[in-house]
Amino acid sequence: MSNTENNNIKKERFPDRGSLILHFLKGSKSLFIISVIFSALTSVFALAEPRVISFAVDSIIGDKEPEPGIISGTILTVGGGLESLKNGLWKVAAIIIVLAIVRLLCKFFFQSFNARAEEKFVRRMRDLLYEHIIRLPLSWHGANMTGDIIQRCTSDVDTVRRFLAEQLTNLVRITVLIILAICFMVRINPILTVFAVMLVPVIIGYSTYFYTKISDQFEKVDTMEGRLSAMVQENLTGVRVVRAFGRERYEKDRFEAYNEKYINSWVKLMRLLTQFWATGDLSGGLQALIIFGVGTYMCVKGNLTAGEYIAFVSYNAMMIWPVRMLGRMISEMGKAGISIDRIRYIMNSDEEDGMRKDEIVSADMTDTDGEKTDADYRKILSGDIVFEGVSFEYPNSSGGSETITDVSFTIPAGSTIGIIGGTGSGKSTLMYLLDRLFDVDDGKGKITIGGVDIREIPRSVLRSYIGIVLQEPYLFSGTLAENISITTQEMVMSEVTDAVRTAALTETVEKFSKGYDTYVGERGVTLSGGQKQRTAIAQMLIRKTPIQIFDDSLSAVDADTDRQIRAALREKEDGATTIIIAHRISTLMHADRIFVIDEGRLAESGTHDELVALGGIYAKVYDLQNAAIEKLSTGANGAEEYE
Ligand SMILES: Nc1ncnc2c1ncn2[C@@H]1O[C@H](COP(=O)(O)OP(=O)(O)OP(=O)(O)O)[C@@H](O)[C@H]1O
Ligand SMILES: [Mg+2]
Repeated sequence: MSNTENNNIKKERFPDRGSLILHFLKGSKSLFIISVIFSALTSVFALAEPRVISFAVDSIIGDKEPEPGIISGTILTVGGGLESLKNGLWKVAAIIIVLAIVRLLCKFFFQSFNARAEEKFVRRMRDLLYEHIIRLPLSWHGANMTGDIIQRCTSDVDTVRRFLAEQLTNLVRITVLIILAICFMVRINPILTVFAVMLVPVIIGYSTYFYTKISDQFEKVDTMEGRLSAMVQENLTGVRVVRAFGRERYEKDRFEAYNEKYINSWVKLMRLLTQFWATGDLSGGLQALIIFGVGTYMCVKGNLTAGEYIAFVSYNAMMIWPVRMLGRMISEMGKAGISIDRIRYIMNSDEEDGMRKDEIVSADMTDTDGEKTDADYRKILSGDIVFEGVSFEYPNSSGGSETITDVSFTIPAGSTIGIIGGTGSGKSTLMYLLDRLFDVDDGKGKITIGGVDIREIPRSVLRSYIGIVLQEPYLFSGTLAENISITTQEMVMSEVTDAVRTAALTETVEKFSKGYDTYVGERGVTLSGGQKQRTAIAQMLIRKTPIQIFDDSLSAVDADTDRQIRAALREKEDGATTIIIAHRISTLMHADRIFVIDEGRLAESGTHDELVALGGIYAKVYDLQNAAIEKLSTGANGAEEYE
């Protein structure tokens, strides 16, 4: 991406609907074009049939002099002249059968090309959307509702698919059909054609009107359906909360109320559709009646032959349905426009930079000329971590207050650092900044590792060297071993068992009958909070990164396991710079240095002993936790209190 423009106007990647559709159409465009051609040919062959019949009635059965034309000329050539045809009417029947077969073949090719095009198009659209969405920054995900994103990826994608694969091809076919039918009709009888097309604008007009109304109602029903399924999804995901708080009845009533609204909207939609079809049938019938009336009159008067009459009535019948469809298509295309815009919004949102491979190759490192190799980066990221006057405010924070204010500290390479602070004080936020999940704005300080500003290190590189155990671990559906090795290229069992040992999870795994193949996540064994935390620790350890962060990762394990894990971590001696965030002083008291964060500021720092001697926040917390431990360890007295 070149950044040569100096103006501030941000150029959208897809400035209009067409550019986005063309982007998605790569690889399927020619298939679509071929399918449209076959679809148009279907119309052409369908229209030829009545012409053959009228020729047979007038010139073969009757005595009318054959008029020059492509169709009559072809019949005469194929049939071996008028005389031969008069003696063998079966030849006309054969021509009609051949026409029908050719039409069916065209239809077959249309459908198979169309299906292939459609499948390619949808796959590309979904792949590109998904690929883009997972690269969008966390702040974007924070600002957009998951349910809405899913709706855009499913039902909006489907609307666009229908627009291209069904409506657009149909539109071409129908337009060809209507135009050709009118041409044929004019050739037969211009005056009767005027009667036939008289009602066409009316039918298109009211179809468009009705379908706009129907579309609006459809959208309402759609939204309601979305809300209804969101409700079901929430209740199923939070089924434990629903049970634990005895909210079944409340949830059931809420669901029933919504469901009723949904049904009412649906009934309204059906009523509109019924009105539409009834009016449509009426106008179609009216038009046919006019043609019958006027046509018969003309026939009797001798202005129209019997064959022409039959052909005319066929053309009229062929035309009515497409004309009605046209109105529907016009309004449905409007709906597709909305869906395309909704998808365009996602595709126009900026991805996190430094996440794509091609970008990383040309990553712009300001203070070097050559490109950095993997080894260079490892060296940099094995250096000291320095926060210099860092302030930060979340992009969607409403109060305009800073979460982090002027924080400066140094974490020497290879040391172990403890971070403690009240809940909501900004500990996790500091780690998010270090991992570039959020970026420090210009002029709000900087974070360097090994002397390099982390904003100059591509995100994917940075993250591949920082291991972080998130405060709220998430397990994917899969086996335990798969979950632990999810971040590695391939699963090496010895590495998995190593990581599991350090995370003090071996005993737990041995207790499962299927061991490492135990299925966890959705539809699997439910791990306890502590087991989940330890799985997440193993997941991080297996990556062997030079920086390792434990964000409150030992909170759900007992003090004994906590000690066991810390001892195992120390034993590893891999020289990793380790950051341990905890609320329990015992978890981090042995750290080389401890930072106390209070309301986004660095309040105190020092070793455990220094901080206790300081008599500040840390000392107070230590005293409180010590008192609680003493109370517990006095055993009998403590137990008496509960009796
Ligand atoms: N993605 C976010 N968007 C907006 N505000 C956020 C976001 N994440 C956290 N915050 C806010 O930032 C503040 C600091 O949150 P943070 O998670 O860093 O606290 P913490 O010190 O880790 O707390 P705890 O000990 O409870 O984990 C909180 O007030 C929180 O509401
Ligand atoms: Mg936190």
